[in-house]
Amino acid sequence: MKVGDVLISEDEIGAALAEMGAQISKDYEGQDLLLVGVLKGAFMVMADLARHITTPVEFDFMAVSSYGAATQTSGVVRILKDLDTEIEGRNVLIIEDVIDSGLTLSYLLKSLQVRRPASLRVAALLHKTGIQRVPIDVSYTGFEIGSEFVVGYGLDYGGLYRNLPHIALMVDDGGDDASPER
Ligand code: IMP
Ligand code: MG
Repeated sequence: MKVGDVLISEDEIGAALAEMGAQISKDYEGQDLLLVGVLKGAFMVMADLARHITTPVEFDFMAVSSYGAATQTSGVVRILKDLDTEIEGRNVLIIEDVIDSGLTLSYLLKSLQVRRPASLRVAALLHKTGIQRVPIDVSYTGFEIGSEFVVGYGLDYGGLYRNLPHIALMVDDGGDDASPER
């Protein structure tokens, strides 16, 4: 596999995040808000989206990893790093890079919901709508894309390409390299 064409440019990402940030600022005006970034993929979205939010926010991060095979998410995720903060009674907004099958996020939402936050919503830069197995209510979406595998802007293939400033397609170059890291 190799990096192919640009799917979403740096400028397009910036414009989408500005819109999402404006909407979030409006929706949470006068309220407390905790942004929860899901590592590692969401680190760039988190940093750039937060700069478009004008209401006071706190930051926290979680790191999760799917159990089982590398390419097939089982829906059971292991929490590698939990939140530092208690979320009971707080407005929590989960920041994701991409929602694919929705299994990871649905598990995450369940495990955070039992901690009784005042509200729990999701913002995702990319939403692969066509292939979703678990219906997820995403309050703020940057782009809806197809089932294509993409890299860049936090998203990786085998741990690489997270630093690309845009979103690019991965294309088959005929080689048989390892499965993508989830
Ligand atoms: P799912 O929604 O449980 O299927 O898994 C979502 C996770 O799979 C994301 O947080 C990414 O780590 C990974 N993932 C899904 N699609 C892509 C992609 O196109 N590029 C890079 N990682 C992806
Ligand atoms: Mg990944």
